[in-house]
Amino acid sequence: MTPKTFKIKSFGCQMNVYDGERVAELLAAEGMSPAAEADDADLVVLNTCHIREKAAEKAYSDVGRLKREDGSKPMIALAGCVAQAEGAEAKRRSQLIDIVVGPQAYHRLPEMIAQASRGARPVDTDMPALSKFEALPPRRRAAPSAFLTVQEGCDKFCTYCVVPYTRGAEISRRWKDIVTEARGLVDAGAREIVLLGQNVNAWADDGLALADLIRALAEISALERIRYTTSHPVNMSDELIAAHGEVDKLMPYLHLPVQSGSNRILKAMNRSHSAEGYLATIEKMRSARPDIALSGDFIVGFPGETEEDFEATLQIVDEVRYASAYSFKYSARPGTPAATMEDQVPREIMDGRLQRLQARINAHQVAFNRSKVGVDTKLLIERKGRREGQMIGRSPWLQSVHVDTEAQAGDILDVTLVAAGPNSMTGAVRQRVAA
Ligand code: 5AD
Ligand code: SF4
Repeated sequence: MTPKTFKIKSFGCQMNVYDGERVAELLAAEGMSPAAEADDADLVVLNTCHIREKAAEKAYSDVGRLKREDGSKPMIALAGCVAQAEGAEAKRRSQLIDIVVGPQAYHRLPEMIAQASRGARPVDTDMPALSKFEALPPRRRAAPSAFLTVQEGCDKFCTYCVVPYTRGAEISRRWKDIVTEARGLVDAGAREIVLLGQNVNAWADDGLALADLIRALAEISALERIRYTTSHPVNMSDELIAAHGEVDKLMPYLHLPVQSGSNRILKAMNRSHSAEGYLATIEKMRSARPDIALSGDFIVGFPGETEEDFEATLQIVDEVRYASAYSFKYSARPGTPAATMEDQVPREIMDGRLQRLQARINAHQVAFNRSKVGVDTKLLIERKGRREGQMIGRSPWLQSVHVDTEAQAGDILDVTLVAAGPNSMTGAVRQRVAA
């Protein structure tokens, strides 16, 4: 039977969120309607993440949980990076799975759904360059802050990471297609666009680079804010740094993962930058945009990491004074070079290091938030808060700000930041900016 309703569950990174939105639009264009819960849906798409431990096991147990009390089940599509990594093997591991679709093959879903409705179990993990974007329907609805994938894949091959295998080689979407999609998002209500890519700052088209694209998008008058993520330190060009000082709509926030503060470990990770090189980039960024909020990613317990290496990581955290940062315990991913390296670090040591690192990161985050108390700024309202009359928006520095207001999602307010918590701020409205 052909499904009439669908539910998409996305896990992991922002790119999966973006892909999930595009798949929802594709299925809606096919005449299907979204269901509130997986339990009510004829088709469930599990848009999975493979970056860290037990990803595949988690995906299979999520699949198992879609079985209903009366013994029935929806049509199940395993999508995303676990689907890419497992391929046809997924059908053998779980009889419940009807469709296996990798991240570069979503545009083929309608056809695969038709095949599954006839009892087949199609698998598509091909990686045709670019075709999925061009085959997806245009944007019709957009949140106040909307994602736009401009680049996918990775050629860097950090020794711990599955991304080059699950998302494929680095490809950049065409300038023209990105500008068209950005205009569509703005017409559909977006006030902020977040440009996405695994190596977003490696984006290039016909001699043009990310800084050029940002400057062009800033010309769209109803677009108020531009962000981009995730950047690689080696692709942080002087032009891009300069844009932070010159383009008002480019928000003062940069997510720039360093992973470790130890040059020995950075080398073993194949990161192609040193701690000093990274700090020099941060320095340049701070001179272009002194109030920039910096964010990063860290891995503790990479094979061979000693106490001394770990202390170098704590030190770089202190030098950069991150406004926020994500930290993870190293997880051996099958098929990556680091998985078979000697000196894997025992779990208890990793646990201890992660705790110490997170405490250090939190201290800087609290200090950053406190430094913004009393500051007048603009807030992009994104959604309702928990309390009646409360809304939640984002500051230019990507802080979550709670504010009592009658304003709606998509409004931009003049606020004073009046209080700081560890994970969010409180704002007080000054006046409404005319839209
Ligand atoms: N183990 C732990 N963390 C990882 N990351 C990527 N691969 C691994 C792994 N094998 C982290 C990195 C990356 C973020 C998205 O996930 O810090 O920047
Ligand atoms: Fe993974 Fe490194 Fe590529 Fe980032 S740059 S996606 S960590 S291989």
